[in-house]
Amino acid sequence: MEETFNVIKELMAQYDDSFYIYDEKKISGQINILLENFSHYEFLYSIKTNPLDPIVKFVASKGFGADAASAEEVVIGQKAGVPYEKILYSAPGKTRKDIEKTIDKAIIIADSYNELVLINDISKQKNMHTKVGLRVNIDFSMDGGKGSSSKFGVDEHTLIKQKAFLNSFSHIKIVGIHVHLRCQILDHSKLYRYYEKIVELGLFCQETLGWEMEFINLGGGIGIVYSLAHDTPLDMEKLSRDSQGLVQRFKSKLNARLIIETGRFITCEAGQYVTRIVDIKESHGTKYLIVQKGLNGFLRPSIAELLMDYSPENATLKASEPLFTATDAFEVMIPDGDKSCLEKVTVVGSLCTATDVLVKDAMLPKATIGDLVIVSKAGSYAYSLSPLLFSSHGLPYQFYLTTESKIHICANDAG
Ligand SMILES: Cc1ncc(COP(=O)(O)O)c(C=O)c1O
Repeated sequence: MEETFNVIKELMAQYDDSFYIYDEKKISGQINILLENFSHYEFLYSIKTNPLDPIVKFVASKGFGADAASAEEVVIGQKAGVPYEKILYSAPGKTRKDIEKTIDKAIIIADSYNELVLINDISKQKNMHTKVGLRVNIDFSMDGGKGSSSKFGVDEHTLIKQKAFLNSFSHIKIVGIHVHLRCQILDHSKLYRYYEKIVELGLFCQETLGWEMEFINLGGGIGIVYSLAHDTPLDMEKLSRDSQGLVQRFKSKLNARLIIETGRFITCEAGQYVTRIVDIKESHGTKYLIVQKGLNGFLRPSIAELLMDYSPENATLKASEPLFTATDAFEVMIPDGDKSCLEKVTVVGSLCTATDVLVKDAMLPKATIGDLVIVSKAGSYAYSLSPLLFSSHGLPYQFYLTTESKIHICANDAG
């Protein structure tokens, strides 16, 4: 920790601007947790969580495939060395151009009946025979109830009615399914029951719809602990034991790859957002620490503060992934502040909006202008999810700290 902090200080002294720093050791540790616990499963790295080139390459080098949510992410995965059969491209609303661009680079997961027709049409034009997957809106909820309306996939109960249509294509063949219901499930029994339902659905697709199932994508992602007060870590050992049992139960009936999408698990805790205090002032009894880049560097903490402002006291806020998970998700630290003197402060950025708040009324060590402010859990849904161009301040830098303590400086347009 001390070692990384010294690196952070040196980087700020040298680059004089806000940045993200990602730690390969932590990424590697997370990868190993998954590999050790789920030996019968394949993993796809969810590129949307952090598409940074050295990260995607490193994760790919460990044998992970790519969960691509756009045609561009398919290309990112391909450039990182992920082979065709390990890139699964799943998103609603793909255009003809998206499909044409990716049909030879990834397994495309059709998100609707129309999309199946479109992929078949493109395959015919290109004189190809394409294996595809189908995203299914499963008739089951994470909490054990019935399914509900969704913009993702086709409703499970419609499959049987569409059997003839689904098996009528001349140039595509459905060989897999993809389901993703919810993020941040930390209850291993809920997650396991969900996996079990999807594998049962896979068996139904094989036995009743007549598909030769090559893969079952159980979706993602593996959650992490954001709130030390409210989150209980996922019990990996139990999930691992039950998931291996699931493989044993179905292996005589199904010969399909079982796939899990990593979601934020790989990168979230490996990233920190670093900015620094450029001014300090008081107004009507509130002490403001003004940092160089607030929400135009890292958006998610501001959304948490914004939601709290508009919620009645004691309201239970529903997570709205991946924009918002919990109000106490991020730790804001001032490592060089005076720890013997805590002060109640509000940390804000310089944008022309009162929403530009990293944390409100927090007890933090007494700070001075120039001190660094570090925000935790900034490795996923951070750089790529923030309005970096707001007010034309220039982009934050991104640094990748390798296991050998080398620093990759990633492309950035900041002046
Ligand atoms: C299909 C799919 N897979 C994986 C993920 C990532 O999982 P998480 O948000 O839990 O990190 C998402 C997130 O929206 C998703 O939609």
